Amino acid sequence: MINAKTKLCCIIGNPVEHSLSPQMHNAAFRKLELNYIFLAFKVENVKAALEGFRSIVTKGIVVTIPHKLSVMKYVDEIDEIALKIGAVNAIVNVKGKLNATNTDCGGAIDAMEENINLKGKKISLLGAGGAARAVAYGLKMKRAKVYIYNRTLDSAKKLVNDFSLDGCSPLRNFKGIRNSDVIINATSVGMAPNEEQSPIPSDCITSNHLVFDIVYAPHHTKLIKYAKAKKAKIIYGYKMVLYGGMRIFEFFTGKKAPKEVLEKTLLSAISK
Ligand code: ATR
Repeated sequence: MINAKTKLCCIIGNPVEHSLSPQMHNAAFRKLELNYIFLAFKVENVKAALEGFRSIVTKGIVVTIPHKLSVMKYVDEIDEIALKIGAVNAIVNVKGKLNATNTDCGGAIDAMEENINLKGKKISLLGAGGAARAVAYGLKMKRAKVYIYNRTLDSAKKLVNDFSLDGCSPLRNFKGIRNSDVIINATSVGMAPNEEQSPIPSDCITSNHLVFDIVYAPHHTKLIKYAKAKKAKIIYGYKMVLYGGMRIFEFFTGKKAPKEVLEKTLLSAISK
């Protein structure tokens, strides 16, 4: 029941209507009978929004595109992981102090570690944007060998340099990908409405690969279809949302997230 003691959590972004966070977190709040509510707010002025949230004591704020960098100026404390990645996606209000973190990185790593021990593995990471940066940092922490493949070589070089990664190549030079252990798509290629696109051709993939596409809409991306046809192991994009969401839930409530509820809610929202 919503009453005067209900704690408000929200997601801010622009656009934000596509967000799966409200469904996922409200289902989990109900399951654990927590007096919390989760809403989505379309925000243009981040500074004004954060001042408002401070004064009305919002419990937790998820931050999505395009505000992951700009919010950093308006919080009180940023943890090391978010500082290194250079982006924030979750803020918790502790007695009026806004503490920020990044769960994109941990969400991706948790999804992979469910399947593989990353230490020493050769990873072909496709992309060098914000998402790739969060994933690359996590992989480096796990002591994997990370090779970046990106359309724009300069961004790939910068990422390799920032995190002391193991090398990079233009995305069109995809030959080396066949010899890696894991392929991760952290580009936006294949995302709806461009569902017929894949960042790499199917002959880069073998049955020895673990293929993780962080694109979650559509559920079965072209790359995932290629990987299935090659009998490679696959990780669907929603897993990063799931594990990132679990970390956010715990950050906001201090309670262990009910994984089955979050997963069921996510899968039913994605398959609609
Ligand atoms: P996000 O925060 O989701 O990572 P981003 O920072 O805009 O978004 O990064 C998008 C990534 O997808 C980049 O690596 C981009 O490649 P460029 O650095 O060359 O722009 C990649 N990308 C987007 N569209 C692409 C396309 N059509 N072909 C290949 N790569 C593409």
